[in-house]
Amino acid sequence: MNDDIQTILYSEAKIRAACQRLGKQLTHDYQGKKPLVICVLKGAVPFTADLIKQMDLYMDIDFIDVSSYHGGTESSGEIQMVKDIDEDVTGRDVLLVDDIVDTGNTLAYLKKLFAKRGAASVQVCMLMDKPEARQIEGISADYVGFNVPNEFLVGYGLDYQGKYRNLPYVGILKPEIYQG
Ligand code: PRP
Ligand code: MN
Ligand code: MG
Repeated sequence: MNDDIQTILYSEAKIRAACQRLGKQLTHDYQGKKPLVICVLKGAVPFTADLIKQMDLYMDIDFIDVSSYHGGTESSGEIQMVKDIDEDVTGRDVLLVDDIVDTGNTLAYLKKLFAKRGAASVQVCMLMDKPEARQIEGISADYVGFNVPNEFLVGYGLDYQGKYRNLPYVGILKPEIYQG
C-alpha cells in the first residue's frame, strides 16, 4: 500500500502537531460548554479520534455519513445522507469534524442541516482545506489544520475507491494508480 504513494505531504508528526494545536484552541474556545462533536464518516474517523483526545472538555460525540464522491476522484455535487446522527441538536453547540473541505458541497449541506435543526452554534474543524477547489462561495472552516494544494490526496481518512484511509500520513497517489 505504501508503494502506491508518490509523495508524503503531511507526516504523522505534522498531523500530531496540528491535532495538538487545534485541540488546545478548541479547549479554550469551548470552555464551559459541552459541544456535540459530529464526525463525518468515513473520512473523518482518524482525525476525530486524534483530535478529541487533545480536547480537555466534556463532550458528546456522534457520527453522520454523507457521501458525494461515490468512490471516485471528483465530487458529484449531489450529497446523499447515508446515516444520520442519533442525538438531538436543538440548543447544542455543534462542532463538525471532517478531514477535508474541497468543493464545499458536503460542508454547505451539513452546516445548513444542523442550523435548520436548531443548533445553538455550528462550527467546523477540518484537518485540511483545499481553497482552490471550492465551488460553493463563502464556505469555509472555523478551524483548519493545513491549507492543501489542489492535488488528489489519500491517507489519514482520505480514500481512493475506499482504500488508503488507514495510512498514518497524507500523501499524493502515484498517477498510474488512478489512470489504470
Ligand atoms: C470526502 C471528504 C469530505 C468531502 C469533501 O468525503 O471526506 O467529507 O468529500 O468534499 P467536498 O468539499 O467536495 O464536498 P466522501 O464524500 O468521499 O465520503 P468518505 O468520507 O466516506 O470518503
Ligand atoms: Mn468524507
Ligand atoms: Mg471519499
